[in-house]
Amino acid sequence: MMKAQTSVEIHELLANRRSPRSLDATTVVMSQELLAILEAARWAPSANNGQPWRFFVGKRGDEVFGQILDSLASFNQGWAHRSSALILVAGLHEREDGTPNKGFLYDCGLAVAQMVIETHHRGFVAHQMTGFDTAKAAENLSIDPSLTPVAVIAIGKQAPAELLQGAMLEREIAPRQRKTLEEIVVKGLPN
Ligand SMILES: Cc1cc2nc3c(=O)[nH]c(=O)nc-3n(C[C@H](O)[C@H](O)[C@H](O)COP(=O)(O)O)c2cc1C
Repeated sequence: MMKAQTSVEIHELLANRRSPRSLDATTVVMSQELLAILEAARWAPSANNGQPWRFFVGKRGDEVFGQILDSLASFNQGWAHRSSALILVAGLHEREDGTPNKGFLYDCGLAVAQMVIETHHRGFVAHQMTGFDTAKAAENLSIDPSLTPVAVIAIGKQAPAELLQGAMLEREIAPRQRKTLEEIVVKGLPN
């Protein structure tokens, strides 16, 4: 059962979204699709409309894709090389006046969440990763020191789980699981 089990129905994009690792190595993502995915991120809300997110976008086969892929943990490289695009999100950790922007990670997460939903809406899948070497990514992509690398998002077309093997295959076909609402709503769970 892949669809999220919920006590009441939620939007099907949210219920059906998952983070697959079996991706089709031949699918090319069109520029229009990538632009839409980036627009969805661009229009995310952020504290004081600060928009601290910056993106590095690689399409499979190009230089940026190779530079991001090279920074991934080997487990992630093992499946993410088949993605159609790799997007690294980095965040400005200081405000324009030089004071720390404590909320930059929160804002970057919101932008990525919108990106993920737009991706799935378009029939692609998105798989976020923090399993990457931030120093290597910064070096490979010549990332400005004002930016902190936050996450990499693999965008691709989902392929049959059976293309994977071993533990990765098991994880791919395992049901999605979550804590119960009782566990995560500390006070005020509606009954
Ligand atoms: C911030 C973040 C970092 C993640 N890092 C990795 C990663 O490095 N490698 C990986 O295979 N999956 C990674 N994931 C995927 C999670 O394991 C996955 O979202 C979680 O198990 C829930 O599964 P679902 O997205 O299919 O519902 C990451 C997800 C998030 C949100």
